[in-house]
This record gives sequence, structure tokens and C-alpha cells, in this order.
Amino acid sequence: MPTEHKIILGNSQQMPELADSSIQLMVTSPPYPMIKMWDTQFSAINPQIATLWHALEADGREETVTQIYDAMHETLAKTWREAFRVLADGGIACINIGDATRTINGKFRLFPNHSRIIEHCENTGFTTLPYILWKKPTTKPKYKGKGAFLGSGFLPPNAYVTLDCEFILIFRKGKLRRFPPHDKRRYESAFTKNQRDEWFTQIWDITGTRQKTSQIERRIAAFPDEIADRLTKMFSVKGDTVLDPFLGSGTTTKIAMQNERNSVGYETDESLLPLIKKKINLEPTACKLSIIKREN
Ligand SMILES: C[S@@+](CC[C@H](N)C(=O)[O-])C[C@H]1O[C@@H](n2cnc3c(N)ncnc32)[C@H](O)[C@@H]1O
Repeated sequence: MPTEHKIILGNSQQMPELADSSIQLMVTSPPYPMIKMWDTQFSAINPQIATLWHALEADGREETVTQIYDAMHETLAKTWREAFRVLADGGIACINIGDATRTINGKFRLFPNHSRIIEHCENTGFTTLPYILWKKPTTKPKYKGKGAFLGSGFLPPNAYVTLDCEFILIFRKGKLRRFPPHDKRRYESAFTKNQRDEWFTQIWDITGTRQKTSQIERRIAAFPDEIADRLTKMFSVKGDTVLDPFLGSGTTTKIAMQNERNSVGYETDESLLPLIKKKINLEPTACKLSIIKREN
């Protein structure tokens, strides 16, 4: 089945290129609030965040930390609201997110990104469905949020649990999606019994293909193909359109191409384009690709 794929170099807080209710599935992973590697990008997209970081240097107040965290989630929420507009009734949104731990002003704490996103998506009108915990390859337990446990790591009570799971949050817009009886596209998209038994469980133990991923993919925290592949097959049928408003290296586009789905991806960082092109280069020739650069 020939499919169409659009890569839009622009900010997904506004998606004027997409009509209301034109998308059946969103698969995405945004920048993670309060993870240091994303600080610069949050400040670039929302300059209020840069101002607040400067204020924190001067005032060191706990309230300012909260304001920064709120502003980061409000920045993401603009995209969640736009995703709600473009998703069709019965459409599904899958958001991969990790919580963050960080020491600010000498205080170590958890920033529970997954619960903030659930709140924002609920406020937007989405219905929250049971989510998946992606168990990442084990990282060594940490002590006081820093290096590995040292000798005193055997003594209670001041050590912390290491975050070794990420969340794949799942939401639906509106009512259950309906199909005509014996709909061909739906039956052709059926998964096997083994796939169903493995995929529709809450804990996914996926190691990813770390040795195969490039340095840039690691820098932007690309998710493994397997994550996008499972979600695409679980929550869409052939011929549907899959949206990724935080496209990164183009994993979602590549997997849509392999699975006879159309796709639309948004990415603000134009320097990722060569990587995206390389990633999708080998996919079926029946895929029509357009790259659109926004003029704002
Ligand atoms: C965690 S990475 C996505 C990784 C992706 N899942 C992959 O497999 O490569 C998040 C991406 O979102 C982009 N981004 C951040 N804010 C954006 C926005 N408002 N609109 C479009 N892209 C954005 C970043 O430049 C980054 O490449």
C-alpha cells in the first residue's frame, strides 16, 4: 500500500498543516522536564524558563524551582492540546516519558513527569488508559543521586531508589473507535496471539539496540524501534496516519513506513535532518516523503 510521509521542520505547539481530527495515532517522546540535557531547549522554546533559571541563581527559592518545572510542563502541554485537536475521535496518544531526579540548591528530589503529563492531558480532554512501564537496561544503583553506591550505601536510611523504568502513557480522545463489520484494513492489521500476550502487559523489558545507535541518537534519547513498532501495530491499522510532534531521529516515521501507515513528524532541530534521512533511507519505495520547512 503506498503511503505518504511528511516531516515538518517547525514547532509542534502549533500544527496548522494538520486539519482537525485527521490523525489516528500519536507516538512520541518529548524532551524530559528537569533532565539537564534538555534545559537549553526548554529555555529556547519558552524564554520565560531562561528568565526563571536566572532568577533561581539569584534567589535560590524553592518556589522558583516549582515555577520552572510548571513552565516546562506548560510548554509541552501546548503540544498536547494541539495533538488533541488533530486526533480523530477514538484516536490514541502514546507518550514515552521518564521521571527526573535532580539536586538543586543542595536538595535532591524527584520530578514526577509522568503524573504531570497525565494531569495536563486529562485537563485537555483525553481519557487516561492503563500505561506501560518500560524497564530500561539496568543502570547501577546510585547514592544520593550521584555516583554508584559506596561503602556507606549499605547503611539505612539515606539512599535512594534508582529510576530504571520509563513510562509509556496511553490516552484516548473521545469514544472507542468504530469500524464497519469485517473491515479489511483492520483484519489485515491483526497481531498474533504471542504478540498480544507479550505487548498488552504492563512491563516491557526492552534493551534497545544501544550498540547500533549513533552518538546523536543517544544524545537526543531516541527510543528503540521496537517501542514504536509495538505501539504502531497495537493502536493503528494499515492506511492510518501516525503523528510524532517530537520527531528527533525519525524513528516513528521509519516504523510507519515499514508498517504501511502514513506519518507526520515535527522537529525544531534542523540539524537532525541528515540523521532522519539516513534512518528512513532504506524503507519501501512506495513511501512518498515530503520535507516542509516552516517559514517562521
Ligand atoms: C526525546 S527527543 C525524541 C526522540 C525520538 N523519539 C527518536 O526516536 O529519535 C525530543 C525531540 O523533540 C524536539 N522538540 C522539542 N520541542 C519541540 C517542539 N516544540 N516542536 C517540535 N520538536 C520539538 C527536540 O529537538 C528533540 O529532537
